[in-house]
Amino acid sequence: MRIVSGIQPTGNLHLGNYLGAIRNWVRMQDEWSAKGGECLYFLADLHAISMPHTPADLGANTREMVAALVSCGIDPDKSILFNQAQVPAHAEMQWLLNGTARMGWLNRMTQWKDKAGKNREGASVALFTYPVLQAADVLLYQATHVPVGEDQKQHLELARDIAQKFNNDFCAEDAPLFTLPDPIIPPEAARIMSLRDGSAKMSKSDPSDMSRINLTDDADAIMQKVKKAKTDPEPLPGTVEGLAGRPEASNLVGIYAAMAGISAAQVLAQFEGQGFGQFKPALGEVLVESLAPMAARYRELREDRAALDAILAKGAEKARALAAPTLNRTYDALGLVRG
Ligand code: TYM
Repeated sequence: MRIVSGIQPTGNLHLGNYLGAIRNWVRMQDEWSAKGGECLYFLADLHAISMPHTPADLGANTREMVAALVSCGIDPDKSILFNQAQVPAHAEMQWLLNGTARMGWLNRMTQWKDKAGKNREGASVALFTYPVLQAADVLLYQATHVPVGEDQKQHLELARDIAQKFNNDFCAEDAPLFTLPDPIIPPEAARIMSLRDGSAKMSKSDPSDMSRINLTDDADAIMQKVKKAKTDPEPLPGTVEGLAGRPEASNLVGIYAAMAGISAAQVLAQFEGQGFGQFKPALGEVLVESLAPMAARYRELREDRAALDAILAKGAEKARALAAPTLNRTYDALGLVRG
């Protein structure tokens, strides 16, 4: 049992990250570490350089993301929390897997198509090969389970394809090197959408801050964003089927359900026939109530740079030790001679 997942330290942790991934990280940490399973959670700082970035911001964002994760419940004594840059095995493993990954596979990645847009010639090579680094991130540790939001499913499938091809090409049939990881996607919050556009996912890269709820938002900002969220003029239906064709309404009901720990059907049973004038303040309150304790912890933790660096150093040391055996076996399988 080994759980591995990552998050890019670009900007704030938002509600999509929290409900889609981080909440599951915490649940799995609490459940599995008690049973002797290991959880590795990392800041994907090497991934962050695939897009234009400001070096001074990357360091600050990395530390802030550590503070955010710990505030959400990641416990550095139960989980191994680190950043990729302190574990060179990630970059090494990516290079070793580059020989196995196919151009055609990477060309099909929707995130590459979305992020490169029409300017493929001007996109960085790192943006194109990013999914191979992501495969390296999990294969390096023989991950069995990878908790992520829906948008990372395709990258995980690619990791499985790379693992399978490598095992076929370079290992004896009865001694495969890589474990095929399973994605763990929360059904109730797989894809949290933008508050301004029900067809776009909530994202750090959306230029409008009104499109997302950040962990750092205070109560006023949360209430304001929910109040201004795009909706339609209809009242809420009594059943989930009644939300069909109403992406914004469906998103807000989904957020309420995920935050309150109930099903969308239960939310609708409670609010059937009510308009957004009534539903939005209730949603705002649920959000403020649940996020406020995390936000308070975050504001305290982010000030202690030495403590945050110590968490990363300790995590990286453990991660380096766990990565070494698989990395060595990969060099060997490829016939590379090393001293
Ligand atoms: P990133 O940093 O974009 O997002 C971190 C996690 O949050 C989830 N997520 C969402 N879930 C639901 N609704 C949303 N609107 C939403 N937005 C983000 C993501 O699915 C993700 O689980 N490539 C990854 C980081 C990564 C990684 C890995 C993940 C690097 N190596 C290895 C798993 C395993 C990324 O950019 O996630």
